[in-house]
Parts: sequence; structure tokens; C-alpha cells
Amino acid sequence: MTLVAPSILSADFAYLAEEVAMVEKAGADMLHIDVMDGQFVPNLTIGPQVVADLRERTSMFFDVHLMIKQPEQMVPKFYQAGANLITVHAEACTHLHRVVHQIKDMGIQCGVSLNPATPIEVLKYLIRDLDLVLVMSVNPGFAAQEFLPLVLDKVRDLRRMLDESGSQARIEIDGGINEITGAEAVKAGVDILVAGSFIFKAAQPAEAVKLLKSLKKA
Ligand code: DX5
Ligand code: ZN
Repeated sequence: MTLVAPSILSADFAYLAEEVAMVEKAGADMLHIDVMDGQFVPNLTIGPQVVADLRERTSMFFDVHLMIKQPEQMVPKFYQAGANLITVHAEACTHLHRVVHQIKDMGIQCGVSLNPATPIEVLKYLIRDLDLVLVMSVNPGFAAQEFLPLVLDKVRDLRRMLDESGSQARIEIDGGINEITGAEAVKAGVDILVAGSFIFKAAQPAEAVKLLKSLKKA
């Protein structure tokens, strides 16, 4: 079964707790929380306080995607706010190995995200330390962008790298996921689908969650 992580970036922020309760009830496996700083990406979203407030309302697994410069400065705050997994961008870290171990030393899971143009080879010496690789299938910053098919080859290459290295890291994909692109991504080797607008803008969001969960590898 494919795991599904609804991205709250496409939720109605004025009703965030209700939106989260809705996807939790629909069977979503984790909650994808997009943090943007207006520097690494040209958009601003939420900080640790919103994560901490949501933590009081749900027991969902929090998958926090940091699209921020110098993430090492904010990692402790998101950990304290209740993140279960923190993903940083390879492009935002001068000392990626140090940041990965900063997160792991807190006892939570760690992911590294790659923008569409970033090759997977940057992870070669780190891959066994990771719980997750987040493959961006759009250039990050906004919801409802079009899926970039070039990342399907990247997912296949990454799956091979993981198998050959013996890494247990899961592959997550983020950006432009719907039932068609999601099916292609799962066939290419993705374990976790992030979806924002496909779920939160759907007429029947619970059905959209179930549809993505039902996608199979073969
Ligand atoms: C993009 C974010 C994504 C985005 C996904 O920068 O990281 O999580 O919200 O939204 P959709 O699924 O609408 O592309
Ligand atoms: Zn994201």
C-alpha cells in the first residue's frame, strides 16, 4: 500500500485543525507540513508555533518539510514543537552531514530533499544515514504546480542507489501529485506521495486520500 501525506499548504489555514482532522479520519498516513522562509523559496508559510498548536490536536505523524536557509538554526524549535520527521534541503545546507546528525541525535527521523535539478549523487556518502529522501517534482515554493516528468528517471535511479547501498530510506515525492502522476511515481519506486491541492481542493477530499493510497507498484 502506498503511504499518503496530505500537504497542509493547500488547506484553509483559517480552519487548520478541522482540515487536519478530516485527512486523519480519511486514513492519511502522515501530515506534510511545508515551512517556507521567503529566502530559500519565494513564499512564506508557518513556523513552529503552528506545529506546536496542531500537536495538541492530533496524534498524526508530522512530516515537516523545511524549505528554509540555515535549517540547523530552526531544527530544535520544530523538534520541540512535535515534529516526527524533519526534512532539510541539500541545497540549503553547507554542512549537510552535520545537519542530518543534528536531527537524528534528537531521536526523530531525518529526510533530505532534492530540488528537480539536483542530482542524487549528493547523497552518495550519506544515504545509509537517512530515513527518507524527498524528491521534489516541482520547484518548491507553491502548491498546485505542474508535475515535472524528468523526476521519474531520478526516482528509478534513487531506488537503485538505495537497493545497492542497503539503505532503508523511503522515497517520498512532492509536487503536482494526482491520480495519474501518483501512479507513475509509485511505479517508478516511490513509497510516500505528498499531495496538496489534489486532496484539499477536491470535492471529496477523503476519496482523494483513498485513491492515492490504493495505487500499487505493479
Ligand atoms: C511545494 C510544497 C508541496 C506542495 C504540494 O513547494 O513542498 O508540498 O504544497 O502541493 P501540490 O500537491 O498542490 O503540488
Ligand atoms: Zn512539501
